[in-house]
Amino acid sequence: MKALVLAGGTGTRLRPITHTAAKQLVPVANKPVLFYGIESIVEAGVTEIGVVVGDTEKEIRAALGDGSRFGARITYFRQHRPLGLAHAVRIARDWLGEDDFVMYLGDNFVIGGITGPAEEFRAAGTHARILVTRVPDPTRFGVAELAPDGRVVRLQEKPREPRSDLAVVGVYFFTSAVHRAIEAIEPSARGELEITDAIQWLVDSGHDVRAGVIHGYWKDTGDVTDMLEVNRRVLADVEAAVLGDVDGASVLVGPVRIEAGARIIRSTVVGPAIIGAGTVIRDSRIGPATSIAEDCVITGSDVEFSLILCDARIEDAGRIEGSLIGRSACVTGTPVEPRAHRLVLGDHSHIEIAS
Ligand code: TTP
Repeated sequence: MKALVLAGGTGTRLRPITHTAAKQLVPVANKPVLFYGIESIVEAGVTEIGVVVGDTEKEIRAALGDGSRFGARITYFRQHRPLGLAHAVRIARDWLGEDDFVMYLGDNFVIGGITGPAEEFRAAGTHARILVTRVPDPTRFGVAELAPDGRVVRLQEKPREPRSDLAVVGVYFFTSAVHRAIEAIEPSARGELEITDAIQWLVDSGHDVRAGVIHGYWKDTGDVTDMLEVNRRVLADVEAAVLGDVDGASVLVGPVRIEAGARIIRSTVVGPAIIGAGTVIRDSRIGPATSIAEDCVITGSDVEFSLILCDARIEDAGRIEGSLIGRSACVTGTPVEPRAHRLVLGDHSHIEIAS
């Protein structure tokens, strides 16, 4: 079996972060979200990995390299425009050949990995296997309707009236039958070749398509709220360790990981939290559910339930929560009167100001 990892796309929901960076490389507990996916693919015994890339090709290539750091061999496919998940499969068609493959959306997060589902697919001998999970609000997702024997009967994309509460997870197992389906379908109203249409084509033309229900945690990290939730979930399992310096006036509460070269000065860090290498925290309170990446400086501030990317600076900013702060961003408090907000924001930035 091969794997096809989708790491292109536009990432509109994560703007402005995605104006300058690949959303699949946003770190969760200080490790890019894409790495968790690649690791779970290798863990499932799949080491021939194709990665579909778009405008952020250079960055994704720099992060993943030839795959050897994961024990895999990576081949890249450039998708010139994000024309849909099925389109991404089409551009890797020759490389995939007649092999079975797992298609993994690079911004998806499945705790517990995909080893079990991969084994079920190998054992079942079906044409395709999708993964589904129960969600409270199916209208936000692709939804699968199943027959009592687990066969997929129908897929609906973000339905107003969902026929089940089973959301389709971004991990799909295919035999080469999917290539005939992709050749047969037309672009959807939004101009994309949809993988749901290809799967529906398989179902309608009599192929055996099954669904496995996963009970572990799954999230699509497409927007900031999901990203923060995944970070909180992953941090819950973080191994506490103090590899950096914590001065005598600081307090660490609960599971906290302080990486080498980080310095905590007159501050409190409440776990679960991770403080990246080279970061300095001074006269501040950090956490819980917070990841601070490498080489940041946080002074005189209170940061909770947030993701702070590398080289960011937060000074005298008061309390910050539920926030995603990009690389080398700067947030500073100002003592001048009258109290006014002075902002220099990138395109599509989103800020909420306490008023
Ligand atoms: P999506 O989250 O569906 O799309 P997107 O990345 O364009 O994001 P947004 O909706 O916020 O604009 O994509 C799921 C994954 O598949 C993600 O890792 C990007 C990747 N992808 C491709 O590689 N090629 C494509 O043509 C599309 C649509 C997505």
